[in-house]
Order: sequence, then structure tokens, then C-alpha cells
Amino acid sequence: MKVLVTGGAGYIGSHTCVQLLDAGHQAVVVDNLCNSSEEAVRRVESIASASLPFHKVDIRDNDGLAKVFDQYDFDSVIHFAGLKAVGESVAKSLMYYQNNIQGTLTLCDVMAANNVHNLVFSSSATVYGDPATVPIKEDFPLSATNPYGRSKLMVEEILRDLHVSEPAWNIALLRYFNPVGAHASGTIGEDPSDIPNNLMPFISQVAVGKLEKLSVFGNDYPTPDGTGVRDYIHVDDLANGHLKALERLQAQPGVVTYNLGTGNGYSVLDMLKAFEQETGKSVAYEIVARRPGDIATCYADASLAKKELGWQATRNVEDMVRDAWKWQSQNPNGYR
Ligand code: NAD
Ligand code: WQD
Repeated sequence: MKVLVTGGAGYIGSHTCVQLLDAGHQAVVVDNLCNSSEEAVRRVESIASASLPFHKVDIRDNDGLAKVFDQYDFDSVIHFAGLKAVGESVAKSLMYYQNNIQGTLTLCDVMAANNVHNLVFSSSATVYGDPATVPIKEDFPLSATNPYGRSKLMVEEILRDLHVSEPAWNIALLRYFNPVGAHASGTIGEDPSDIPNNLMPFISQVAVGKLEKLSVFGNDYPTPDGTGVRDYIHVDDLANGHLKALERLQAQPGVVTYNLGTGNGYSVLDMLKAFEQETGKSVAYEIVARRPGDIATCYADASLAKKELGWQATRNVEDMVRDAWKWQSQNPNGYR
């Protein structure tokens, strides 16, 4: 298959490109590099020993995208490009709606003009808001509490409407739980441009000496040890879900929605201890107040993806923390 990967220089996109190339597909990346580096694309080429054409294009740029579509005969698009920081989305809501919604609309316009109707979209478990129960199934009620989450919800709805008006579209909405870890080689990984918002990169940066200590946001949640529980999933398992979704779209299913998680919940302290045990590094931490907007517990029922995609996560928490550390210790300053 010939696959356009928007946001392919980013964290999840780069790992997915490795797997696309390894599986013998042709991949092409468009990315405006607002949160990534072209070096990631070069490293993907070196891991996969294959070429990965890169075009520095903003997905809101209709003409720029159209020129890329002119050069290749794409079968499908995997659409990762977007902004993803929850706190920033509250402060800069217009920027988030512009980027995540306008970007997707422009992408869909250019796809339609080129007769490309297969789309895999990066959605998020954030669309479940604060779920009444766990594990979370795909048909649970949807809600959002911040502009980032709302942009994901709105794009999901836009894409469902698109299929109703144009049934030729086949769209997979993939709701990721908490992606962590890195490629087992340690040569590509998550490279936050600022102080990390997410737990695992924060832990890794404390361990490598870039940050002093982890603030654990609350230990009074109704969870076994009082800290927040999440469904952490190895980025390579997540990447593989995209290849399975592409295969599923070949059967022309219309719009399909899948949770991509492991189905297991781990607390903040579980992750911290697993990291320390696996890497032999100690990670200083202190308990601080809850982070506004956080929920107690979130983990997936991933049985639909298993049944319909033949996909399930195969890597455990030890794999996640080992690979996260391999990337961080080999690249203390990320791609810079
Ligand atoms: P990332 O920031 O590493 O990757 C996103 C990429 O998109 C970056 O390379 C960035 O430069 C690019 N980009 C952003 N806006 C663009 C634009 N207008 N035009 C072209 N390129 C643009 O993030 P990631 O963690 O790899 O996330 C990928 C997708 O998955 C995002 O849509 C994100 O919202 C979604 N997601 C991420 C997580 C997570 O925790 N990492 C969880 C759920 C969903
Ligand atoms: C995990 C746990 C924190 C940092 C976010 C987005 C979500 C999705 C994934 C994109 C929580 C605790 C964290 C720290 C801590 N992204 N924590 N100290 O909040 O589950 O989800 O990323 O779609 O939309 O909201 O992930 O990694 O930030 O937090 O104690 O410095 O770690 O309270 O319990 P979260 P996270």
C-alpha cells in the first residue's frame, strides 16, 4: 500500500512508519515539524533500511498538500498531525481548533479531490471524559472537558458525518489510551520540546538527571494506592494497531471505532517502581496536590479491536519502561 502519514515525524507517527516500511508498504510523511524533528524521519529510514520521503507541509495548507498528492498515488492516509497538550489547549483554544479541526478538514478536502477515501484518525481515550465505570467500551458516553479533547470529539463527529454524506469513505477512529515506551533499538522515541506533561517522559528525565524530582499528582484517589490509574500501552503495540486498521479499511467497513489499550490499569507509583526495578535508577518524587482535570481511573476494554482487527497489545510494563529508558539514556537531549 502507499500510505500518507501526517505527523509522521512525531512520536507515534515515527514508530508507525517503521512498521509500515518493515511490512513492505510505501510511506510518505508530511509534517510541519512544530513538535518534532526531521532527524526522526532519517532514523526511521535507518531502522527500516528503506526510504521515507518527507515533505515539510502544514496540513492546513491546501496547495501544499495537493502538491504532495500530485506526486504519489496514495491508497490511504494515517492522520496523526495535531496538537496534543491539554493545558496549552485551554490557554490557546483557537490555535487548537485551527490546527486539529481546520487541518483535518483541509486534509479531507484534498483526499476527496484525489479520490482517496481511506483514513485512519488518531483519537484519544480523552473522549470518554470521566467514565462512570471501567473498563471503557467504545459505546460509552462521550464528553470532553478541555479544547484538546473537544477537538478530538468534534473531528470524530465530522468524520462520521462525512461517511453519511459520502459513503465511499472508510474511516477508522482509533482511541489511544496512554502511549509510552520507544522502539526497542532506542533510536527513536518521545521527544517533548518542553518540560514533559506526561508521566513517563517526566520519570525518564528525572532518571537521566534533567529534572530534579517527579511530582505525583495526588495520592487520595479511590484507587489501590491512591494515585491515578491508567492504561499504558507500548508505542510499538499502538503502531501495529494502525497497520491492522489499514487492513480493515480494505474491507470497506464505513466508519469503525476501536480502543487501543492493553486492558490493564497501573498506578503512578506502579509505573515508578517498575521503572526503578527495570533500570536500576532511583527516581526522586514527592506527593503534591491533584492536577486539575485529572480522573482517578481509566483503562480500556480492548476486546473489539481483538475481535475485529485481530490486534492486541503484546508488550508488558517492563518492556515499556525498559524501552523508554533505552531511548532517554541514549538520547538525553532527544533529537537535538
Ligand atoms: P507528536 O506531537 O509527537 O506528533 C504530532 C506531529 O504532528 C508532530 O510531528 C507535529 O510536528 C505534527 N503537526 C502538528 N500540527 C501539524 C500541522 N498543522 N501540519 C503538519 N504537521 C503537524 O504527538 P504524538 O504523541 O505522536 O500524537 C500523534 C497523534 O495522536 C495526535 O493527533 C495526538 O493528539 C494523538 N494522541 C496522542 C496521545 C499521546 O498521549 N501521545 C494520546 C492520544 C491521542
Ligand atoms: C498519567 C498519570 C497523572 C505527570 C494525557 C491526556 C490524554 C492523552 C494522554 C492525548 C495521571 C500522573 C502525570 C506528572 C503525575 N493524550 N502524573 N505526575 O493525564 O492520563 O492523559 O495524555 O490524547 O488526552 O490527558 O496522562 O501521562 O499526563 O498522566 O503524577 O508529572 O500520571 O496525574 O494519573 P493522562 P499523563
